[in-house]
Amino acid sequence: MTRRKDLLDIESLSREEIDHLLSAARPFKDLLRRSVGKVPPLRGRHVLTLFYEPSTRTRSSFEIAAKRLSADVTNFTVSTSSVVKGESIIDTIDTLQAMQVDYIIVRHGSSGVPNLIARHTAASVINAGDGHHAHPTQGLLDAFTMQEALGQNLAGRRIVIIGDILHSRVARSTSTILTKLGAEVAFFGPGSLIPADRRQGIPALRTFDEVFDWKPDVIYLLRIQMERQKDQFFPSLREYHRLYGVTDERLAVIRQRGLPIMHPGPVNRGVELVDSVMTYEHCLINDQVENGIACRMAVLHWLQPKTAVRAMD
Ligand code: CP
Repeated sequence: MTRRKDLLDIESLSREEIDHLLSAARPFKDLLRRSVGKVPPLRGRHVLTLFYEPSTRTRSSFEIAAKRLSADVTNFTVSTSSVVKGESIIDTIDTLQAMQVDYIIVRHGSSGVPNLIARHTAASVINAGDGHHAHPTQGLLDAFTMQEALGQNLAGRRIVIIGDILHSRVARSTSTILTKLGAEVAFFGPGSLIPADRRQGIPALRTFDEVFDWKPDVIYLLRIQMERQKDQFFPSLREYHRLYGVTDERLAVIRQRGLPIMHPGPVNRGVELVDSVMTYEHCLINDQVENGIACRMAVLHWLQPKTAVRAMD
C-alpha cells in the first residue's frame, strides 16, 4: 500500500488504509504492554508537537509514541514563542522547517490550518485536532477500542454519540470511521447542538428512552465544549445533565445491558456523566487513552515524510 505524507482527516482514508492502521496498532499495543523499551523505526527522525490549543492526552500520547519509536521529540510551546509577538503560522513553519523536523503534530483552533501547513512543508503533518473539523487519531483510537470491546468486525454494530455534535471534531472523525467500517451511528443531544446537514443518513434520537430503544452497542459521550460555543445552546448545565447526561438511574440500565461507555476526555463530571461512571466495569475511557499511544505509533510508522533521511550513527 502506498504510504501517505500526511494524516489530515478520516474522510480521505480508504477502508484499506484504515484496516491497515488498526491492524498495525495491535502489535504496538502488545509491545507497550510488554514494557519493551524502544523500537528503532524512527531512529534519526525528529518529531515536533505544535499545539495552539491545550491538550493533555493527545500531545503526551504522541510524545510517548514517537519516543517509543526512537524519534527525537521537541514540544513547541506556543505561549512562550514568537507567535505571541505576531509571527504568522507560515513563518513559524519556515523557521521550524529550517531545523530539519520530519513530523509536525499540529492542533489549532481554526479548521484547515494543518492542511495549510502540510502544503507548505516536506515534513509529515498529523492533524491533532483543528477547529470543528477533524481529529483523525481520535477516530482511529476510538475504532480500535471498540474492536477490542466488540470484536474486530464492527459491521452492523450500533454506536450512539451523545452531546455537542455541532462543535465536535471528535464526533465528525469518529462517526466517519465507524461508518466506513460498516457500523451504524446515531446522534443524541440538544436539538441546537445536532447539525442539520447530517451526512450518511445518521439519525438524531430525541430522548434517552429512544436511545435505549435503538439498542446501541456502545454509549459514546462527548464533552460539552463551552469554549467553542458563542451562543447559549441549552438552558443550563444542570438541565443538560438531567436530559442528556448518564445519571445513576441511566447507568443502572447501561450496567444491566453491559454496554461500554466511552468519552474522548476531558470529562465534565456532573454534566456528561456522574462520578460512578468512572468506576463502572465497562467504562473504556482509560483504554482509549492507552490505545491512543498504539494507534499513534501506527500512524507515525506508516507516514512517509519527504524530508531527507539523515545519516545515523
Ligand atoms: N481527546 C483529546 O483530544 O484530549 P486532549 O484535548 O486532552 O488532547
